[in-house]
Amino acid sequence: MANIYSRIAGTGSYLPPNRLTNQDLVRQLAERGIETSNQWIVERTGIHARHFAAPEVTASELGVQAALKALEAAGVPASDIDLIICATSTPDMVFPSTACLIQQKLGVGGQAAFDVQAVCSGFIYGVAVADAMIRTGAVRRALVIGAEVFSRLLDFNDRTTCVLFGDGAGAVVLEASDQPGIVASCLHADGRQSGILCAPGTVSGGSVLGDPTVKMDGRGVFKLAVTVLEQVACEVLQVAGRDASCIDWLIPHQANLRIMHSTARKLNLSDDKMIVTVGEHGNTSAASIPLALDHAIRNGQIQRGQTLLLEGVGGGFTWGAVLVDY
Ligand code: ACO
Repeated sequence: MANIYSRIAGTGSYLPPNRLTNQDLVRQLAERGIETSNQWIVERTGIHARHFAAPEVTASELGVQAALKALEAAGVPASDIDLIICATSTPDMVFPSTACLIQQKLGVGGQAAFDVQAVCSGFIYGVAVADAMIRTGAVRRALVIGAEVFSRLLDFNDRTTCVLFGDGAGAVVLEASDQPGIVASCLHADGRQSGILCAPGTVSGGSVLGDPTVKMDGRGVFKLAVTVLEQVACEVLQVAGRDASCIDWLIPHQANLRIMHSTARKLNLSDDKMIVTVGEHGNTSAASIPLALDHAIRNGQIQRGQTLLLEGVGGGFTWGAVLVDY
């Protein structure tokens, strides 16, 4: 029997309309007595602006917009999807899953739907799981979404984190194919590092227990991120039996331009082979990679036939990579 692979049939993304520049944020934070500057944010992170969802807008609402665009690009109706995976750390509710709520908003039912919680690596985890299920023949078409309203988790009195994040969603339709597609994927986690990046709150007895806003050891995250992003890039290339010269585009998690440049340098890739949207989107956690992917496909940077290395890293601590012949 011929091998089954999965290929990207279509992509989509969505940003809420409210765009805040660094200057806007600096002004708002100054009103609270929090001092920061456009220069600090740009020099340390490469971020110039981010989008924030209105207070009543949820992750599933951003996710469904991205999903509809991905379905349209793939030329596939939602009823032809066999599996819906949503990667998010900012779900609409404790349950049901954001994937089920997106399914409801798409007006379909019956197919499997569940969330993946791997913070900023969530989209990579979702793609790897969907790819594995397509390869076994269990499903033929999967919708993988990264959707976040990370602004909800921010402590606007903590300047070390609140300037970094934004809201948005991205999605891909994966479908079975006799050609790759997804060439290889690698996933990792180290729960021993859970404390360096977390939102350590929960719900108990109808109240919030602990503090559910983002806490981050910035330097610790930085050091670990540059190490594991290099390691997992080398690993996924080794699994595929290729070297870094095959990569047309590096699409790393869009958290910090300095981490991204360091990863490209370690792979001997020039900066112009890297898709960069962090400047306009900030860190949108699980949405950042599909947002960057869709952006670069729609603006013509990424072309069919090219090879893409997608890499995620985030809380957990989690990390992973997917090598794609697009
Ligand atoms: N404005 C002005 N000054 C600030 C700000 C701010 N927004 N934030 C911190 N500072 C100050 C600090 O107080 C400190 O001042 P001090 O020297 O007087 O104590 C100084 O800037 C330097 O602080 P550091 O934390 O050492 O700054 P660093 O150069 O490490 O940059 C940063 C901080 C940007 C957070 C960096 O550590 C980083 O990018 N880490 C990785 C973060 C990341 O990528 N997170 C997401 C990945 S995973 C995920 O996406 C969930």
